[in-house]
Amino acid sequence: MNVLVTGGAGYIGSHMVKMLLAHGRNVTVLDDLSTGHRDAVAGARLVEGDIGDEALVAQLLAAEAIGALIHFAAFSLVAESVADPEKYRRNNVVKAEALLRAMRAAKVDRLVHSSTAAVYGEPQYQPIDEAHPAQPVNPYGATKLAVERMLEAAHADYGLHSVSLRYFNAAGADPEGRLGERHDPETHLIPLVLQAASGRRKSVQVFGGDFATRDGTCVRDYVHVNDLCEAHLRALDWLAGGGGREAINLGTEHGATVLEVIEAACRETGIDIPKVMAPRRPGDPAALVASTARAERILGWRPTRSDLPTIIRDAWRWERRSVAS
Ligand code: UFG
Repeated sequence: MNVLVTGGAGYIGSHMVKMLLAHGRNVTVLDDLSTGHRDAVAGARLVEGDIGDEALVAQLLAAEAIGALIHFAAFSLVAESVADPEKYRRNNVVKAEALLRAMRAAKVDRLVHSSTAAVYGEPQYQPIDEAHPAQPVNPYGATKLAVERMLEAAHADYGLHSVSLRYFNAAGADPEGRLGERHDPETHLIPLVLQAASGRRKSVQVFGGDFATRDGTCVRDYVHVNDLCEAHLRALDWLAGGGGREAINLGTEHGATVLEVIEAACRETGIDIPKVMAPRRPGDPAALVASTARAERILGWRPTRSDLPTIIRDAWRWERRSVAS
């Protein structure tokens, strides 16, 4: 089956493309390279273009005989979404609508959609299952939820089959060291910790030490990017087997605090990583941990490489390579 990956030049998308190719799938990537990197797409056809260009997408779906889409292309910075909600609505929601229209025109009826734990908003209990109220507290989460609602309606209205995968904290990198996180600006904890280890930054800031957690710092559920990608492969199989519509968490059911991440990084790198305590970052909940029961029941998915040492070792390989190049 031929697969179109939107946003396949980005962090998670590029790992997905590599895994699909390793599984013998034909892959076409559609990416406008606004945040992605051309050299992250190796071995697949890259079409530089806009997911909101309905005519381009419809033509591509037909010409490449696409059977399913994996849709990563979206803006994903919470703070930026608060500063410019309209940019997020236009890119993440309005363009997704155009993408769905193009799919419908080309009679492509399977989609795996990249969603986020940010759809839940302030957590009311842990671990968070999919029945938890979805009340996003920032425009980024709201745009992802809006697309989920659109996909539910498209299933009911004309039978679009889709799975939204709600990632908790994506982390880690390709174990071969060819791919990894390359955000500009980088805002995610693990790459920032490793940049402090490699000397690219003087130190890492710890945002808040007074949360109601075991050491006062925020708890997050880190999941290896390749575990996420495996869940997408399983979601494609579920759709091919006649699956209709689901929203599924991807996490590990285990949280780590910011200080635990830094300690694990010190252990794995052998470097005493400089850290400084800083005020809380606005909007950060104390803890976000996923219930994984639905992923296991529906997709038969369990993370196999999402322990902190493996995540950090793989991300560290990528950081050292980035420093060397
Ligand atoms: N943190 C620091 N110092 C830093 C960067 C982060 O202490 O320099 C802390 C944050 O306060 C947070 C934790 O490290 O407690 C993780 O922060 P990230 O920015 O790496 O990730 P978030 O949990 O904020 O964000 C993730 C996804 C978002 C998603 C959000 C909510 O990256 O896309 O979870 O689900 F919206």
